[in-house]
Amino acid sequence: MRKAEGKRLYIQDVAVRDGFQIEPVFVPTADKVALIDGLSRSGLAKIEVTSFTSPKAIPALADAEAVLAQIKRRPGVEYAALVPNLRGCERALASRVDEINLVMSASETHNLANLRMSREQSLAQFEQIVALARGHAQVNASLSTAFGCPFDGDIADARVLELLGRFATMGIDRVTLCDTTGVANPAQVERLCAAAKAAFPQIDFTAHFHDTRGMGLANALAALEAGIDRFDASLGGLGGCPFAPGASGNVCTEDLVHMFEAMGYDTGVDLEALIGLSRRLPALVGHEVPGQVMKAGPSTRRHPAPASLGAPGAQQRLATVKAVDPASNCSPV
Ligand code: COA
Ligand code: ZN
Repeated sequence: MRKAEGKRLYIQDVAVRDGFQIEPVFVPTADKVALIDGLSRSGLAKIEVTSFTSPKAIPALADAEAVLAQIKRRPGVEYAALVPNLRGCERALASRVDEINLVMSASETHNLANLRMSREQSLAQFEQIVALARGHAQVNASLSTAFGCPFDGDIADARVLELLGRFATMGIDRVTLCDTTGVANPAQVERLCAAAKAAFPQIDFTAHFHDTRGMGLANALAALEAGIDRFDASLGGLGGCPFAPGASGNVCTEDLVHMFEAMGYDTGVDLEALIGLSRRLPALVGHEVPGQVMKAGPSTRRHPAPASLGAPGAQQRLATVKAVDPASNCSPV
């Protein structure tokens, strides 16, 4: 494991896009805006605030323009939106996004299921979008199912590298490698991320993991080992693609920040602020959310010792505990 030594990592929250897109309830625009404004104050590097998709495909994000018009943009925070096609790009540019997050899949079947386009059709639109966005917004390409597809199964590293080559030829210098349905394992992540970074040193990579099989944080560490310093994550661990069977939540933002900070990395994020925002989520989406640190509190949390330890004779009993088990971490009140 590399030494942290205060190294800066960049955390990018996707809860309002990847999270809300799969929720059956429509979170009111005002609540989305309040959440984004809270996230803006928490020190995140980037927030994906919505998607400019067909409102028939993603009704939960049908208010994209209103959200972008109403948020308070904080200097130093990038505001991104997912864009599937040229029409989405025009809408996103009209709403003055900082970054257009293009999306296509490494697998043909998921591309067809998600976007109703072949990969070649998506690539052709990317080319037009890059030209349209030049000078107006940054362009990031998110490659879904880069680590495996729920329809087509394994995706060869070579196929991913070939698609990255197509992006690079278009001049795209920001790419997100997405594990859409949480099938990646840490050995695979380290291998593919290292190969991608070595082949395309000019590209700024983001790692985007879903925790569907409990490998999310381990995969984030594997990406970190491969030299990735940007991570997508979702407040409370919400998330999932409605067009990928079995998809579930992203790596949880506050859990990821908590782990990195505990290891000595600098995320620039106010963990307590994130936890406060995350605790508001169940009321917005109508169910519990998967995040763990929001429930347990950070590892630095201390609880008052049991009241019984303060009673007469308690110190005596404590001494006995320590004599029996010298490793006991009971501490006197
Ligand atoms: N924004 C708003 N409306 C759009 C649009 C966009 N970016 N792109 C297409 N539409 C509209 C069309 O105007 C048309 O509307 P109409 O039925 O009222 O005439 C309708 O959507 C269908 O258009 P079409 O070009 O035939 O698109 P499609 O039905 O083949 O759908 C996508 C293609 C990409 C627009 C759609 O599949 C989509 O938005 N998918 C989103 C996928 C997603 O976000 N997945 C989760 C994230 S990975
Ligand atoms: Zn995702």
